[in-house]
Amino acid sequence: MGKDTDDGFSCTAEAFEAFDDIPLSPPRVDTIGAIIARRYSRRDVLKGSLGVTAATALFGPAALATGPQPADGMPFAFVEVAAGVDETHHVAEGYDADILIRWGDALFANMTPFDPANLTGADQARRFGYNCDYIAFFPLDRRNTRGLLCINHEYANPEVMFAGIGGRPDRSDFVKITQAHVDIEMAAHGVSVVEVALTNGKWRPVVGGRYNRRITAHTEMTIDGAAAGHPLMQTKADPTGRKLWGTLNNCAGGRTPWGTYLTGEENCHGYFWTDRRADNGRRLTRGLGGVLQKSYERYGIPSNWYSWGRFHERFNVDVEANECHRFNWVVEIDPFDPRSRPVKHSALGRCRHEGAEMVVNNDGRVVVYSGDDSPFEYIYRFVSKGTYRPGHRAHNMRLLSEGTLSVARFDADGTMQWLPLVFGEGPLTPANGFNSQADVLIYARTAADVLKATPMDRPEDVQPHPTNGKVYALLTNNERRRPEQLDKANPRAANEFGHIVEMTAPGGDHGAQTFAWDILIKCGDPRVAEVGALWSPATGADGWFACPDNCTFDAQGRLWVSTDQGNLWAKKTSRADGFYAVGTDGASRALPKLFFRCPVGAEMCGTCFTPDDRTLFLAVQHPATDGVRDWQSFGRESTFEDPATRWPDFKPGMPPRPSVVAVRKKGGGRIA
Ligand code: FEO
Ligand code: CA
Ligand code: CA
Repeated sequence: MGKDTDDGFSCTAEAFEAFDDIPLSPPRVDTIGAIIARRYSRRDVLKGSLGVTAATALFGPAALATGPQPADGMPFAFVEVAAGVDETHHVAEGYDADILIRWGDALFANMTPFDPANLTGADQARRFGYNCDYIAFFPLDRRNTRGLLCINHEYANPEVMFAGIGGRPDRSDFVKITQAHVDIEMAAHGVSVVEVALTNGKWRPVVGGRYNRRITAHTEMTIDGAAAGHPLMQTKADPTGRKLWGTLNNCAGGRTPWGTYLTGEENCHGYFWTDRRADNGRRLTRGLGGVLQKSYERYGIPSNWYSWGRFHERFNVDVEANECHRFNWVVEIDPFDPRSRPVKHSALGRCRHEGAEMVVNNDGRVVVYSGDDSPFEYIYRFVSKGTYRPGHRAHNMRLLSEGTLSVARFDADGTMQWLPLVFGEGPLTPANGFNSQADVLIYARTAADVLKATPMDRPEDVQPHPTNGKVYALLTNNERRRPEQLDKANPRAANEFGHIVEMTAPGGDHGAQTFAWDILIKCGDPRVAEVGALWSPATGADGWFACPDNCTFDAQGRLWVSTDQGNLWAKKTSRADGFYAVGTDGASRALPKLFFRCPVGAEMCGTCFTPDDRTLFLAVQHPATDGVRDWQSFGRESTFEDPATRWPDFKPGMPPRPSVVAVRKKGGGRIA
């Protein structure tokens, strides 16, 4: 660990680069022609349905040179968990899954034990937040025994957080929700930065650790890029349009090689309130005309999911029209400097960002992929203007401020195009309502509509492999897709189960305009013909899943997927959400194995391996909520007083607590 300098924490932050196994220059593994040729030789040429002429026509004769072939063989040795549902978690035999940190655990010294009956907003702001989601690990030593965890806190479930609420407050006009509840909700959102240490084979949070920090709905931040200062970003509280407060609905995210954390702001529309909410809260937008109406309607604002707007004017669109434009961005946080101001990077566009996963391209530019998590939304890619310079942290922390944002169009021939969201190019002109690059970024969804991007089946995590040029897009589901809306990349109507699209950057060049794509998996029960699933024929009864949401690669480059079936798990699979290893190459391609199973009502969210693959951190979100009515052992909705499970605390008066779990192999060793 480095020595501190007068200017703060830079030495330690730079040491992070030395402790982390960062692939700086992905090898040129393949040509796009080889990818297309291999795909077609595998699927279509053999069937006689499509010749190599497609690849030749697209990329020239030289493109048909074959690249290296993937290795065969199942790369996962663990013994699979049985699929099912009950009130606790399950991990593969031979592994320990220990609760590391839970909602309400103290992050700072001299705090009392968590007592949900006596919680206040100020107290919550010093404790681990609610509904943990994305996790990133920043090692503080070479042995992977100390590190910082950054963890998103996506949203609040007041009916199981607070005593005496009964059912979900949004279904009863929030009559029992007070300002004290709202204060706690706002402090339970955002991000936790917490130091963790491994002692005697067990991870523990370092209470009072020097980097520990809570970022909440109140934390001061800035915005950079073209949208900074734009009139649509200006509010009564901030006439500059550059000073913002808080980050919301932090879902997935990313980690940069210079040791910062990226967090995606997803369902921010739900926090905006109107008192005039006949017609589902949208009456306000009628007759406004112009860009404001377009922005509100396209982003679902306001949606009155929470009642914050009753107590905080900025969340009431009747009073403050522009605060909503200051959310739905990707935010960069420096975990090595607890005093730093997070930065919202407008260059990455405004949408319901699921995450923001980064790869360093082979030319040094950094590339960030992001899904916009709603039915029929798009997949985005940001390519920085500048290049990554190892050890030059101040330079690198400006890389997300300037670059080119693009949106994906998937074509039927197995190629895809990245369409640039650049003001003045193509149709992004005043004729279509765009008067500046700020307009294009603030209305990124609308700009992508105009460019005719491909509407996908709820794009969630979009994850680049660190070295081989592959990118995996997890499409959770889209039951609204009608038969006449099918395309090759979204091939199932009323898609209940979701699928995974594999994109391939030609020659490992993530900045290329044209990629190849293929479908890795179509999820759902492979034994039921009507489901139309696509898995390896070797898939077992426990391994298949539905609704892929997030994914990660371990240090060996192997793909792991987490699921979120929501309220409909009983109908879709009759099994709890979980964490699955998935083969991507050779004989194991599309072969899944269940490694960890969530307790009833929970979703498997963020997942993160340490660089030595000896620890896996897992975020178990909203235990006891989703679809517990359909769990026969319970058969009703959870409340604070009567939850479907008290996992992980089996104590009276203690509601279910979203938690991060640390998984280790018994006796040590890599997770295999
Ligand atoms: Fe927050 Fe898209 O899951
Ligand atoms: Ca998610
Ligand atoms: Ca991911």
